[in-house]
Amino acid sequence: MKRTHNGVLRLSNINEKVLLKGWVSKKRDLGGLLFIDLRDTTGIIQLAFYPENPLHDIAASVKNEYVLEVEGTVQERSNKNMQIPTGEIEVTVSKLTVLNTSQQPPLIIQDETDALEDTRLKYRYLDLRRPVLQNIFKMRHKAANAVREFLNKEDFLEFETPILTKSTPEGARDYLVPSRMNRGEFYALPQSPQIFKQLLMVAGFEKYYQIAKCFRDEDLRSDRQPEFTQIDIETSFMSQEEILDVSERMIKHVMKEVKGITFDEKFPHITYDEAMNKYGSDKPDTRYDMHLVDLTELANQTSFKVFTSNIEEGGVVKAINVKNMADKFSRKRIDQLTEFVKGFHAKGLAFLKVDKGELSGSIAKFFTEEQTTELIQKMDASDNDLLLFVSDNLKVTNNCLGQLRRKIAREEELTDPETYDFLWVTDWPMFEFDEEEGRYYSLHHPFTMVQEKDIAMLDKDPEKALAYCYDLVVQGQELGGGSVRIHRQDIQNQVFDILGITKEEQAQKFGFLVDALKYGTPPHGGIAFGFDRLIMLLAHTENIRDVVAFPKTNNGTCLLTDAPSPVSELQLSDLSIMTKK
Ligand code: AMO
Ligand code: AMP
Repeated sequence: MKRTHNGVLRLSNINEKVLLKGWVSKKRDLGGLLFIDLRDTTGIIQLAFYPENPLHDIAASVKNEYVLEVEGTVQERSNKNMQIPTGEIEVTVSKLTVLNTSQQPPLIIQDETDALEDTRLKYRYLDLRRPVLQNIFKMRHKAANAVREFLNKEDFLEFETPILTKSTPEGARDYLVPSRMNRGEFYALPQSPQIFKQLLMVAGFEKYYQIAKCFRDEDLRSDRQPEFTQIDIETSFMSQEEILDVSERMIKHVMKEVKGITFDEKFPHITYDEAMNKYGSDKPDTRYDMHLVDLTELANQTSFKVFTSNIEEGGVVKAINVKNMADKFSRKRIDQLTEFVKGFHAKGLAFLKVDKGELSGSIAKFFTEEQTTELIQKMDASDNDLLLFVSDNLKVTNNCLGQLRRKIAREEELTDPETYDFLWVTDWPMFEFDEEEGRYYSLHHPFTMVQEKDIAMLDKDPEKALAYCYDLVVQGQELGGGSVRIHRQDIQNQVFDILGITKEEQAQKFGFLVDALKYGTPPHGGIAFGFDRLIMLLAHTENIRDVVAFPKTNNGTCLLTDAPSPVSELQLSDLSIMTKK
């Protein structure tokens, strides 16, 4: 007999003979009458052993996670469970084989588990048996499939690029691998396939993609793993607009295939500048308002010294309106928010509450009647609104209010995970000046092309030069980012100069790419999407470990294999390495 999977059986299969294989998920012995929930990768089905069944004793001896093979007949249940797809039927068993036994598992293998994450990661192979996780990895497969399907149809070629390579320019710390055959020398694991995909464009392939592993030794967070996966794309002869178009259609294809959601409209575009000024973030969450409003001019007329003296020093005053929630913000809660923004270098947090057209709060007395009216109008304020103000330099002000906006939205649950607010953030500056180090950094990476109209700016005022650079943002997360690349050697050299990358460093780090620019490099550009982040979005989880089969902890360790771990003296001496105690 051919095996049947649990998950496909329904009322329509009644009286069919079936052969099932799977794990014991749960056993209920009602004294005489015995039920086993049998789980396979497609779902759970109820096996029923009635008192007269000669297999009753064997069935009574099995335990959770035993592996069974059963033959039986599909029957309608008398006591239906409409919560699960197979809940209207059960299988009465005529043959039962125990294929394997199991120790008592250290965690409950069900969607709801109270096991600590450390236990789950140590026994990840058991954790992965839980249907929630099984579903996430099926979704992950489906998404990868949809990506390939789309890009193949658009004539992209799938490539593999080296894992043992040289440092790439994404700017995190590298993972290094010592070379045995070249004493004292190291490979770097790629932070992305960036340089190789550009070389493939020089090589004339025109449309490249790879679902690529990337490695970055950086501080980990809930949306960062030290090794993660990108959908990596590069194209020749396409403008920024064309690259965004093909990327957007790919994301839409994935959303349609995996979630059944269609987007008729084009994803909106917003410039980096507008994102920072209106949302206080380069990855704005647009599912809720609370926009940042610039009140510098008005604040400068008030008698509040903190504001006026900040403005005199070149600072700004901005505020957000927490609509119709003033009554939810006690003095204590506002004090907590004040401490929160101080963590982002604000000097304070002023607030006003609106009640019957009147203002109350820490700075109400500094506003004249006229100024109050103007403020209410500018902030679109009405009764029970809470206005929160920060005054500082533009960067600190935007960041603090952006963080505050995010925090309040989270606390007040203004974020619906089913709302997908895809948004392109474009027109990024080429460089950011680091005051402390007194040098420029690339906002994206050093191969990003300056906008045609701003080429002359590279000489005069590099900070004002905008790049052909873009991020795709959704739900306040950076899902992907890329740029049109520099294909002209003179501009590449100019950018390296601005970044203070010396000729020697250029030659040592990216010499081969700079060389390649001399041989008819086509105009090219691309993008990379965080594949794990895409799955987090689809699966509605905020923990990247939920979407990686064998993830690392925030300390970069694998609790399952115990990696990283010490190695033998012999291995070290083969590599000519001595470790410091
Ligand atoms: P970037 O560094 O912006 O660009 O990375 C692209 C996308 O990869 C995801 N990502 C991560 N996901 C999980 N864990 C991490 N540690 C992590 N770091 C990044 C993010 C991000 O948007 N080579 C360029 C792309 C290009 O220019 O074509 C690059 O790697 O979702
Ligand atoms: P003070 O006059 O210093 O007691 O401050 C009055 C209110 O203004 C308090 O709520 C402070 O948190 C707030 N405040 C102080 N400095 C700033 C600032 N730079 N931006 C916004 N609010 C501030």
